[in-house]
Amino acid sequence: MSIDTAEHSENRSKANGQQILQVGPVNPAVAAALADEFGALRLPEGAEREDFLEQHADGVRIAVCSGRVGVDTELMRQLPNLEVIVNFGVGYDATDVAQANERGIAISNTPDVLTDCVADTALALYLDVLRGTSAADRFVRRGEWARIPSFPLTVRASGRKVGILGLGRIGKAIAARLEGFGCEIHYHNRRPVEGSPYTYQSSPAELASAVEVLVIAAAGGPESAGLVNADVLEKLGPDGYLVNIARGSVVDEPELIAALQEGRLAGAGLDVFANEPHVPAELMALDNVVLLPHVGSGTRETRADMAALTLHNLRSYLRDSTLVTPIS
Ligand code: DGY
Repeated sequence: MSIDTAEHSENRSKANGQQILQVGPVNPAVAAALADEFGALRLPEGAEREDFLEQHADGVRIAVCSGRVGVDTELMRQLPNLEVIVNFGVGYDATDVAQANERGIAISNTPDVLTDCVADTALALYLDVLRGTSAADRFVRRGEWARIPSFPLTVRASGRKVGILGLGRIGKAIAARLEGFGCEIHYHNRRPVEGSPYTYQSSPAELASAVEVLVIAAAGGPESAGLVNADVLEKLGPDGYLVNIARGSVVDEPELIAALQEGRLAGAGLDVFANEPHVPAELMALDNVVLLPHVGSGTRETRADMAALTLHNLRSYLRDSTLVTPIS
């Protein structure tokens, strides 16, 4: 898809390393290509950053970043000639999308290639938090099995009513897997998904009321911030479970902690947190919570595919100002 007029494309196709800026740490294969193939600039951290920007900011046309770091409001303002942000990851909520839209800055991400692995991670959390596998593992390692003959009973994972918040590519892949477990699937989305076999609920609260497990697969960003609030958690109730493989910002984390501590929620499986890599000590202290270090897409195969797609977008933009997977 063409994202530019012919007017500037000649200049842009000549973009060289001084016009490409690596922002924050990126996947090693992407970092190696940026350094070796393109001779890209790398934004320094700390005190050197301002001098660096004074010297190079005007020349930067392309920023390459991870979804976790993004190009934030201030950095984007400091790059007056930025044309495109090439984002490693499907989520790009760390980038100021509103400013990018206003300025006509295009953004690419890495959809599809990570869908299966992120959905697999959601299922791993689902099974773990309902069946207590991590907790049971800790029980064995602590040597408690010899003393206490039976680990406390857990709940059945098959045949549950499960709500998917955000029935996009990843939400659908999670639903398909849960169908294999005989689950009844409900969902909430900004609008009903045409042709979906699942039951649409008109709000996150309605969804939480209808199900026993709520799985968050919604994109991060201002529109979804705090969507899973005290009311939604209350509707999910003391026998309800929450799984989040989307973004920590979608959940009101202090409310989640309070609900878990007070037994108003049965458990949570979390791959994402409000302030990563900080995980609240209160969550660490709870045995009915499964905590992962944001590894939804973290397999060798998927990360290699994400790196290849990131570089494909970059090369495509340098060639003819098009992106292979622009955000929609
Ligand atoms: C992404 O790519 O945005 C996801 O966080 C993968 O886990």
